Amino acid sequence: MAKPGTADETEANGTDAPEQPIPTELDLEEEFQRSDIQSVLDQLDRELVGLASVKMRIREIAAMLLVDKARRQMRLETEPPTLHMSFTGNPGTGKTTVALRMADILHRLEYVRQGHLVSVTRDDLVGQYIGHTAPKTREVIKKAMGGVLFIDEAYYLYRPENERDYGQESIEILLQVMENNRDDLVVILAGYANRMETFFKSNPGFRSRVAHHLDFPDYSAEELFKIAGLMVAQQQYILSDSAAVALREYIPKRMRQPHFANARSIRNAIDRAKLRQANRLFAGRGKTKLTKNDLMTLEGADFRQSRIFDEPGASGAAGDHGSTKQ
Ligand SMILES: Nc1ncnc2c1ncn2[C@@H]1O[C@H](COP(=O)(O)OP(=O)(O)OP(=O)(O)O)[C@@H](O)[C@H]1O
Ligand SMILES: [Mg+2]
Repeated sequence: MAKPGTADETEANGTDAPEQPIPTELDLEEEFQRSDIQSVLDQLDRELVGLASVKMRIREIAAMLLVDKARRQMRLETEPPTLHMSFTGNPGTGKTTVALRMADILHRLEYVRQGHLVSVTRDDLVGQYIGHTAPKTREVIKKAMGGVLFIDEAYYLYRPENERDYGQESIEILLQVMENNRDDLVVILAGYANRMETFFKSNPGFRSRVAHHLDFPDYSAEELFKIAGLMVAQQQYILSDSAAVALREYIPKRMRQPHFANARSIRNAIDRAKLRQANRLFAGRGKTKLTKNDLMTLEGADFRQSRIFDEPGASGAAGDHGSTKQ
């Protein structure tokens, strides 16, 4: 965090100039505009469907940081707020996406110096052999310093069944850094809600250092349809009317299948539809010339070839990794 009386101020005042006078009043709106945080919040609203409570928490955190900055300018007592967080939710609910945005926001509000995100799992932190874990964990922390360290499936760090598990060593280093460097590193622990709960129970040190718990609920079929619309548009594709109808039928079917992963499954379904569209266009080559619109349009058939539309009750056949049906 940029502390009062550091580089900027010194530069502005010359080397041994006295500290800037305390302002009598501050314009929060001006600060808000300067941070350009509104554009990030607007983008968040535009590009992320649903997630109302997550978006609200992000606004609250932004407000808190702005006020904290204003208090520092008035030389009021401020402690660097603890901003370590936990993101809980099922796969594909937007945790990684929001973590990236969060890093950007924390940077714009000058809480962290760089605003980059280092995303890791247990294997990046914990070594296989004695003596490997501490350097591995420290290396990751060094990379993340000045930004956000995102630990996915954080509960794998803790393996109580293993008496001498090296994960514990990593946990201890992390806890120390979360306490001592909390003004320059934000740690986000992510994973399934129930497992995170167990993890926090066994590791109260983590619980007490995490100030914000954000829950990412599963999306409704309607939200998933909207997400599909956004994804398609972002990739400069269009859904034909028949494709929209097919996709609306596809989504609830996919939701009932094994390995359903919320928005991630939708992204995969669109990828496969794009593949089938390409096949379709290729198969028709030489017959007609293609327009820009042809190249952009996904048709109902591009979705209906999915195995999900096979016999009712067909199960397990349409995992995320399934190829296009022949
Ligand atoms: N609310 C949303 N609106 C639009 N797109 C979304 C939304 N949530 C997720 N996505 C998109 O879905 C994909 C998966 O999201 P993301 O990787 O953030 O999920 P995750 O919770 O980190 O999943 P995992 O647990 O599998 O890592 C990304 O392509 C992301 O852009
Ligand atoms: Mg993720």
